[in-house]
Amino acid sequence: MITPMAGRVESLASSGIQAIPKEYVWHKEELTDVAGDIFEEEKKEDGPQVPTIDLKGIDAEDEKERERCREELKKAAMEWGVMHLVNHGISDELMSRVKKVGEVFFDLPVEEKEKYANDQASGNIQGYGSKLVNTASGRLEWEDYYFHLIFPEDKRDLSIWPKTPNDYIEATSEYARQLRGLVTKILTVLSLGLGLEEGRLEKEAGGLEELLLQMKINYYPKCPQPELTLGVEPHTDISALTFILHNMVPGLQVFYQNKWVTAKCVPNSIIMHIGDTLEILSNGKYKSILHRGVVNKEKVRISWAVFCEPPKDKIILKPLPETVSDTEPALFPPRTFDQLIQHKLFKKTQENFLSKK
Ligand SMILES: [Fe+2]
Repeated sequence: MITPMAGRVESLASSGIQAIPKEYVWHKEELTDVAGDIFEEEKKEDGPQVPTIDLKGIDAEDEKERERCREELKKAAMEWGVMHLVNHGISDELMSRVKKVGEVFFDLPVEEKEKYANDQASGNIQGYGSKLVNTASGRLEWEDYYFHLIFPEDKRDLSIWPKTPNDYIEATSEYARQLRGLVTKILTVLSLGLGLEEGRLEKEAGGLEELLLQMKINYYPKCPQPELTLGVEPHTDISALTFILHNMVPGLQVFYQNKWVTAKCVPNSIIMHIGDTLEILSNGKYKSILHRGVVNKEKVRISWAVFCEPPKDKIILKPLPETVSDTEPALFPPRTFDQLIQHKLFKKTQENFLSKK
């Protein structure tokens, strides 16, 4: 059963509490390595690091340069499933504008933002919100968010987009258009990387008409006890691809070779995740990595995630025949995106139930 939570994390954080309410306190075993100072963690140079992929050569005329770039992208998608993209073609100025309009919106008083509140119980998931209490686990995440569909343009509902600041729509729409172009480029490289025709993954994920870009602005207030909670629980993204901008405050950790690795803050980069959808289509060759968000005492963290998702019911997602062989049997059963969501929820509820026994 799901019940709405009483308030916003931002209100709780600004109320001056020294101890966080018990709903936000996670079990010890879920907090492995959370105790450290995230600012110190981010500086550490030892151990494996999330790769940085320079996309400058992605369309280069010079074949060698182009192949080198594409090979690196493919390798990172197979080994890590997460990377920092640099020279991705989206200008620093546009990224700054997108971040600015989001920050201005989140700077509004909570009462103002509540005018945009979503209503998850009745299925209106777009708008301002916070995670609902899942009574199976009883844990809440230390974040508020704003969620809305940004592409294709004919599927948007601009009436629920922030009206303040007034260039919110323009900046976010332009970012969506440019990001959509980048998605095609990335999917082209990842298709070729599997020996497929270049447009194949794009088509399998819904194409220009049906692939949905959903933006979630995550707002993580300062937390008096960051060692006891999480901003985002450990999860893999269900999307095909996810692109993330952030305000240069560390918080993302990925689970690589049995250790939590803190992602560095790379200037002007976009973090890209391979999601479950591509992991399934590629029969596990591209990885959807487990990751989580940790919070801190000193600085508000904001991130702008865009999830690129196939349509809910129109496409059956399963390993593409070309990725399956006698020695590499299909690792995933056929499911629509909606069934995939339900399956993940069911698995999580079961795990929570078993951990409580
Ligand atoms: Fe995620």
